[in-house]
Amino acid sequence: MDSILVTGNGPLNGQIPIAGAKNACLTLMPATLLSEEPLTLTNAPRLSDIKTMTLLLQSLGAEVSSLQDGQVLAMSSHDLTSHVADYDIVRKMRASNLVLGPMLARLGQAVVSLPGGCAIGARPMDLHIHGLEALGAEIELKDGYLHAKAPKGLKGAVVELSFASVGATENIMMAATLAKGTTVIKNAAREPEIVDLADCLRKMGAQIEGDGSPDITIQGVDRLHGATHQVVTDRIELGTYMLAPAICGGEVELLGGRRSLLESFCAKLEAAGIEITENENSLTVCRKNGRVRAVDVVTEPFPGFPTDLQAQMMALMCTAEGTSVLEEKIFENRFMHAPELVRMGAEIEVHGGHATVTGVEKLKGAPVMATDLRASVSLILAGMAAEGETKVSRVYHLDRGYEHVVRKLSGVGAKIERIKEQS
Ligand code: EPU
Repeated sequence: MDSILVTGNGPLNGQIPIAGAKNACLTLMPATLLSEEPLTLTNAPRLSDIKTMTLLLQSLGAEVSSLQDGQVLAMSSHDLTSHVADYDIVRKMRASNLVLGPMLARLGQAVVSLPGGCAIGARPMDLHIHGLEALGAEIELKDGYLHAKAPKGLKGAVVELSFASVGATENIMMAATLAKGTTVIKNAAREPEIVDLADCLRKMGAQIEGDGSPDITIQGVDRLHGATHQVVTDRIELGTYMLAPAICGGEVELLGGRRSLLESFCAKLEAAGIEITENENSLTVCRKNGRVRAVDVVTEPFPGFPTDLQAQMMALMCTAEGTSVLEEKIFENRFMHAPELVRMGAEIEVHGGHATVTGVEKLKGAPVMATDLRASVSLILAGMAAEGETKVSRVYHLDRGYEHVVRKLSGVGAKIERIKEQS
């Protein structure tokens, strides 16, 4: 299994291009199932999760071609041949559950494996199920699979989510585009990936209003047509690389970055003493001399501080001046990176959903293990600011969500290389 070797060094300088968003692309791809006509996505990120979704869609009979070095995905669901999302694919990637709503709406039936728990939490699907049931679906759990059917088609309804789940909002929104009548999703998720999905569905002929607010209204239509859509910028990749100069010092321009994607994160970085400048089509992040200040962080649904940047922010706080408290409110088990950071000399105490980090002057390189996608990149960031060498193993997590990570970081001066190992 490959690993990443990072050697701590000085300030970073240069530019990093930011890719299209993994989590937007993973919900835009299943939208192809809603129409017989082709859907083309541009600005797609080159990631293993995208390959997994490609395999899943192909297993359902969709055609998916990866063009222009993977940045364009040309899809067609003209002839679907299956309505079963197999456990072998779903267990690899939870976002596979996003085929449930579209298949149910287009085919009137879907069988989708329940994904099971993962490294960051139990992550049930009750909100997806309740929402689709409100639209008239009959859903039962048999042999670990959700068997969903809507023999008479779906009917619009008011669906109130008890928590603003991203995946449930996406599944219900996609299903509602082809339901009869009007659906209102109350307490909907407001993430930019939801707005991006709504934009794409509108290009396909869907009637959707209110995305980006807690109430989304969808007027069902008889059919959706083909479209071409550009995937929104990956705000989590953006935030991750904004932290690189914040941790190592220097000045880095993030191409394609926009502050509106990450307002609460930017405010925390500024409170910590980092300078952020918004340019026409980029953000420039600069840290001058001296340590950053400790700041407290609470993860929340958008527009709050994203849970997907909590691990990376913790890496920054490890060398901040003072003590910070990071509270994780989205996932119950998302501090697996803390013991690994402690191996690098960080002072962190975890109690339930809180991690208290007392900044140290310098971290020390160590062999560490990635436990999930965001944890793995937090260890790379920590390694870039540590004394000596840090070897991060289990980097297959990283390949799920960060394209060309070694190229992008070494391009701004980081000492980082991938070590191929014989298994
Ligand atoms: N939840 C339920 N019941 C449900 C659905 C969710 O209890 O039916 C709970 C989850 O267990 C979790 C919380 O609600 O505690 C938030 O889950 P949500 O449904 O909002 O998340 P998701 O759709 O499963 C997406 C991203 C995650 C990101 C979260 C939160 C994709 C493919 N994944 O997951 O991304 O952390 O939203 O913003 O869009 C990542 O990229 O590293 C990642 C984990």
